[in-house]
Amino acid sequence: MDLIKSKTYINLAKAFAGECMDRTRYEYIEYGARQQGYKTLAECIDKIAYNEFNHSRMLYSFIQTAKPTAIDNIEICSGYPFREKWDLVDNLRLAALDEQKEAEEVYPTYAKIARQEGFDDIAGLFENLATVEKQHQKELTSLYEQFAGGTAYKKDKTTSWVCADCGYTAEGKEAFDVCPLCQAKQGAVLLQTASCK
Ligand SMILES: [Fe+2]
Ligand SMILES: [Fe+2]
Repeated sequence: MDLIKSKTYINLAKAFAGECMDRTRYEYIEYGARQQGYKTLAECIDKIAYNEFNHSRMLYSFIQTAKPTAIDNIEICSGYPFREKWDLVDNLRLAALDEQKEAEEVYPTYAKIARQEGFDDIAGLFENLATVEKQHQKELTSLYEQFAGGTAYKKDKTTSWVCADCGYTAEGKEAFDVCPLCQAKQGAVLLQTASCK
């Protein structure tokens, strides 16, 4: 089957649009985090946004393999969430839900269709994307829970708190309000999730 005549061709374009939107949504979250002084949270989100940029790049590359190669327009009809408002913590929760939908519904469906249509390499791309979006869901859920529950900088057990700016480290149940070494505010303390290291 020609890629250009397939459902997979449209799904690549839909997924590309979704990844571009994800990236922009996460830039909104990053913007909010920076405005509120959560520097390391902004950096965690920026890493996820950069992942989405690269997802869009891979999808775009596969679209470009279609023949004929000059693509003026791809008509897509698709729905995308527009739930996020300007509440930083709630946007983390909503972003996790968006990731879950991509990981559990959208990309597995696109992968199945691609395989049925004989595009095994594109099916593999969608499967790999689903794996990463699942990881994003976990990260965003963890960040949401920490910021909603007031545990981002306060734990039940002794924790090692590191200033991302100067490297100063202190042990304790609570992170320092101001770094004793460089005077950075608490928002510069490294968060306790995998993507924030
Ligand atoms: Fe993505
Ligand atoms: Fe993602």
